[in-house]
Amino acid sequence: MPDKKRILVTSALPYANGPIHLGHLAGAYLTPDFYVRYKRRTDADVAFICGSDEHGVPITIAAEKEGVTPQDIVDRYHGMNKKVFEDFGISFDYYGRTSSKVHHQTSQEFFTTLYEKGFFKKKTEEQLYDPKSEMFLPDRYVKGTCPNCGYEEAYGDQCEKCGTSLSPTELINPVSALSGERPELKKTEHWYMPLGDVQPKLEKWLETRENWKPNVMGQVKSWLNDGLADRAATRDLSWGVPVPLEEAKGKVLYVWFDAPIGYVSATKEWAQEQGNPELWKDYWQNEDTELYHFIGKDNIVFHCIMFPVVLMEHGDYVLPKNVPANEFLNLEGKKLSTSRGWAVWLYEYLEDFEPDLLRYALGTTLPESKDSDFSWKDFQMHINTELADVLGNFTNRSLSFTVNYADGKVPELIEPSDVDQEALQAIEDQKDKITQAYENFRFKEAIAETMNLARIGNRYFTETEPWKTRKTEPIKAGNTLHVSLQISAALSCLFDPILPAKMKELRAQLGLSDDFSWDDITPNMLEVGQTVSQGDILFEKIEDETIEEQIQKLHDKAAAADPAPDVPELKDNIDFGDFMKLDLRAGEILKAEKIEKADKLLKLTVDIGLEKRTIVSGISKHFKPEDLPGQKVSVVANLAPKKLMGVESQGMILMAETPNGELKFVETDAEPGSPIT
Ligand code: MF3
Ligand code: ZN
Repeated sequence: MPDKKRILVTSALPYANGPIHLGHLAGAYLTPDFYVRYKRRTDADVAFICGSDEHGVPITIAAEKEGVTPQDIVDRYHGMNKKVFEDFGISFDYYGRTSSKVHHQTSQEFFTTLYEKGFFKKKTEEQLYDPKSEMFLPDRYVKGTCPNCGYEEAYGDQCEKCGTSLSPTELINPVSALSGERPELKKTEHWYMPLGDVQPKLEKWLETRENWKPNVMGQVKSWLNDGLADRAATRDLSWGVPVPLEEAKGKVLYVWFDAPIGYVSATKEWAQEQGNPELWKDYWQNEDTELYHFIGKDNIVFHCIMFPVVLMEHGDYVLPKNVPANEFLNLEGKKLSTSRGWAVWLYEYLEDFEPDLLRYALGTTLPESKDSDFSWKDFQMHINTELADVLGNFTNRSLSFTVNYADGKVPELIEPSDVDQEALQAIEDQKDKITQAYENFRFKEAIAETMNLARIGNRYFTETEPWKTRKTEPIKAGNTLHVSLQISAALSCLFDPILPAKMKELRAQLGLSDDFSWDDITPNMLEVGQTVSQGDILFEKIEDETIEEQIQKLHDKAAAADPAPDVPELKDNIDFGDFMKLDLRAGEILKAEKIEKADKLLKLTVDIGLEKRTIVSGISKHFKPEDLPGQKVSVVANLAPKKLMGVESQGMILMAETPNGELKFVETDAEPGSPIT
């Protein structure tokens, strides 16, 4: 027998510093599970690998916050996260952890191989040091102002506002996250990956990649255009994999160096568990393997640039065939934030609903090519109008009619009409579309086309009216049931990757085996005369009240996490008469210029309908002059003129200041000059 095609699928290793939420699931876990569940039904040999990322600053900071050890933190969340993935049917073949012995050995072996090949550049550089805590401050141990966008809460490795990746010394006004003190500079030695040197080689390899998603390739190109910089592979920290060099005592591997190697270590452990310790090599060191990394968009640079370079330089490993990264999922129109309590934890969801419902609803809303939004109302809509009204209703009526009027046996198909034949043909047609969608990582499309088959079935059932024909033309009624049951059977397999638990139930009702292959899905899955049964309703509708409770829960959590986040106190009341003295007008910015020597101020020319005003506004740190023309604003039009840095300001622009210090215009789309009252 020829070897089966080997497919190695990885999901980003989540940090074991907290539980898993909706955003994680939609980003890097659900889509690969859809994919491997599909692939396992085809002629492919699949390994699906994940595990906990247990090193790095996110872990040590979580430990410090709680006053426990990093090991305590990772032990708690590793177990919890492994379980919640299982509960959601995420069918990893192995869920490892980077604190394991095999992982420490494997990542040290990678470092040593690259070191012996002369890959690393050793450099002595000045880095931020906190004398009070007596430690260097890599990555998230330091916060400060982003040099790119001015956001004041940027981290030493990245600004979460504008997405720029940073190094700690680039931050303006850095402060230690440990002591709150201003750090000083101190010399230290590290081993750098000279990514710039290997850029041409990397680019050549990237050119051979086919079918990459535009959002992924776009981000990669933009990194390459900026030119790759050296990146340290080591850190001055005590928690992590020790650098395997005598002269690097007390230093550990950079978490983004060791974590992706976790995919390899976990595959090794999986192979050991199977009693075939060499098996991992068939996946990682065999050119015929197709390797796919499923990740969220914040991990693109690591999986498309850094880790491929490491694999390439090592030399013995396969490189990814594709990295189908997702964008981000928002929640009820807002960015997910664990610190602000704006998240739905998976363990919490499971207290109220079944996992398949979320698999489906999130599947229809995946941020495949751009950010998307999950809302509870949408969730309800997808469950009620699609799973319950279409899929559930169709399979339920097909089965209940057969049980009630055909003795529970699949009727014969006798002289089928065109309508019957078209409905059967739809099984083949939809299967082709669904297969194509899975092959191309278009999961939303796969789901929509599968649901379309249920729609076709439901419509066919309604149009052929078996409740009438069963009395007048029993052969026709039998044909309707035959065709409807065959469509139900196909659905129970085609929907299996998305709704594994529910489709298992449906197959049980149809008398079908769980051990089917994708090739088995045909318009003849059921034999004539085969017995079917009717079980419980597959999908119950969700009441409005239930959804409102969920929305309330979310708001309660947000309020508890962050009671009035830095919102200033209200001022004293004023008289209505005082308020009426203000003349507020709608306006539009026509021009914006910098004012020499005033780095906070911009000189604006503003149309207020009656005339053009010069207004000096303290917004220079927040907006670029070239972005402002056309901006609609609200203007205090009767404020006495005042000279600022030599320019007379004839009014004031209203701005709102958000809790994290951003400025937003108070916009109105009214014509310039319209009074605001
Ligand atoms: N822990 C990282 C995150 O949550 C992902 C690590 S992916 C790996 O963003 F490749 F490094 F393992
Ligand atoms: Zn920024």
